[in-house]
Amino acid sequence: MDLGLRDKRVLITGGSGAIGLATARLFLQEGARVAICGRDEGRLRAGADRLRALHADAVLTVRADLREANQVQRMVDEVAAVWDGLDVLVNLAGTNVRGTLDDLDVNAWWRALETKLLGYMESIRCVLPYMRRAGGGRIVNVVGQAGKRPQATACRRRRPTRPCWPPAKRWRMVWRGSTSP
Ligand SMILES: NC(=O)c1ccc[n+]([C@@H]2O[C@H](COP(=O)([O-])OP(=O)(O)OC[C@H]3O[C@@H](n4cnc5c(N)ncnc54)[C@H](OP(=O)(O)O)[C@@H]3O)[C@@H](O)[C@H]2O)c1
Repeated sequence: MDLGLRDKRVLITGGSGAIGLATARLFLQEGARVAICGRDEGRLRAGADRLRALHADAVLTVRADLREANQVQRMVDEVAAVWDGLDVLVNLAGTNVRGTLDDLDVNAWWRALETKLLGYMESIRCVLPYMRRAGGGRIVNVVGQAGKRPQATACRRRRPTRPCWPPAKRWRMVWRGSTSP
């Protein structure tokens, strides 16, 4: 089946990670061009080497920290300059932060929010002019299963009195410690 991705210009933030590389490989198999972004140069290079074994000329790397707005703008501009535009943005940067309200301090929350909320928003803001110029585009944001369906598994079942982020209907029971989540 032709997905209509041939020659599309794809930027994947977090493209050097596990899901990022798998996603990049799928785009390449469809004939798209792929730029992978991350902070660690060595990890980016290693990922790109694996992808280039599949499609040597269709892979770019770009180093950027999504928490830094100026780096996000530079990342988007660099990729768009090489390919004369952008068609697809896949936001994957960041990792799952697991824990309960009493495990996670404010710094952990900020790091996650700066990457996966503000960083994603900034990258979207930066790609929009290029997509408008191209007459359209696609944006995919990967946040986490809990974004769609909060689960009690994020907290420890052994200690049901610990506050976490269970489905709303269970929230009060968990806080009271009257039942296991
Ligand atoms: N694995 C799962 O089961 C699962 C389930 C649901 C959702 N997700 C979400 O899917 C995404 C990818 O998961 P994964 O398992 O592939 O994670 P991973 O292997 O740890 O990869 C994370 C990627 O994000 C990059 N990254 C992290 N912080 C960044 C920042 N501030 N700026 C730019 N790049 C950054 C990493 O590169 P550098 O460290 O070099 O920057 C790496 O490329 C994450 O957002 C995760 O929350 C994962």
